[in-house]
Amino acid sequence: MAVSLWHKKVIFFGGKGGVGKTTCSASFGLLAAKRGLRTLVVSTDPAHSLGDIFATHIDEEGQLAPNLWGYEINPVKESERYTEQIKSQFQNVVSPVIMEEIQRQIEAAYSAPGSEEAAIFDKFIDMLERIETEFDLVVFDTAPTGHTLRLLSLPELLASWIEHLIAQREKANRLMSMAAVGSPELKEKTDKPDPVLATLKRREERFRRAREFIVDNQAASFIFVVNAEKLPIMETQKAMEILVKYQIPIGGVIVNRLLPTDQEGPFWTRRRELEKKYMAEIEEQFGSLILAKLPLLPDDIYGRQALDQIVQMLEEQIID
Ligand SMILES: Nc1ncnc2c1ncn2[C@@H]1O[C@H](COP(=O)(O)OP(=O)(O)O)[C@@H](O)[C@H]1O
Ligand SMILES: [Mg+2]
Repeated sequence: MAVSLWHKKVIFFGGKGGVGKTTCSASFGLLAAKRGLRTLVVSTDPAHSLGDIFATHIDEEGQLAPNLWGYEINPVKESERYTEQIKSQFQNVVSPVIMEEIQRQIEAAYSAPGSEEAAIFDKFIDMLERIETEFDLVVFDTAPTGHTLRLLSLPELLASWIEHLIAQREKANRLMSMAAVGSPELKEKTDKPDPVLATLKRREERFRRAREFIVDNQAASFIFVVNAEKLPIMETQKAMEILVKYQIPIGGVIVNRLLPTDQEGPFWTRRRELEKKYMAEIEEQFGSLILAKLPLLPDDIYGRQALDQIVQMLEEQIID
């Protein structure tokens, strides 16, 4: 039996750029909050528009409505924070000379490509860990597909990488203990718990928990937002294949920006023909996964009034 969306703990909204991910995350978040769930909407897209869509400025974290909070992950700030945190973890446990070396390595690593991604990922895990204590539901308003799938595949990739680091560290420690035989001074050092190993193991545990959360059918769900156009459909198909590969549960598809039916003229006739063709493709590909169909509204989605229109449509269509 499929678990109702309203019992999920984490829901991801994904899809091609511009299809309506932020619109749907915000509206879904509002609806969840209205239903009494303490809800946090987290934007992982570096090009944030979560605060904007509520016509407010959340400056990282802020309340958006009763029961509803928003968080925009700022990659630059997170990278800095992450670096500082790692530095301070080592500060008290190694000598100043080694600390200098560690500092140098951390700085090199954190200006390297991929470092912002690591920091976003770390924050992403922080958010998952707030579920159940602070929030009933965390909604992720994600970056366009590629970026997000990479984020979701990281727990698995990083788990094997960190296992390797742990094995290496344990091996080095064993060698040190062997070398310490007969040297009381060295022995005293090697008998102490290894803080580096402890840090690695803590990180491994975090990755493991994140992975468990993401693949848990009861807890997590990935909802695609799609428009009845060629490229968004193609991108969604590809993304679904990857989710299946990583065993990430797919919760449904929202078709957004459907054309008005009351417009006359050759332009609209042509656009509607195309839309009909793509809609048939969507029905064929995703049929039973379709959760809701939303019309293209005459205005931008900006501010509560506009959002509430979408909320109402979702409420009518998402029944479970
Ligand atoms: N159903 C809709 N009707 C009218 N405008 C929409 C609708 N859905 C989205 N938009 C507009 O389309 C643009 C992109 O939407 P957004 O939710 O920011 O997409 P994404 O987060 O996927 O990039 C925004 O300007 C938004 O106001
Ligand atoms: Mg967006």
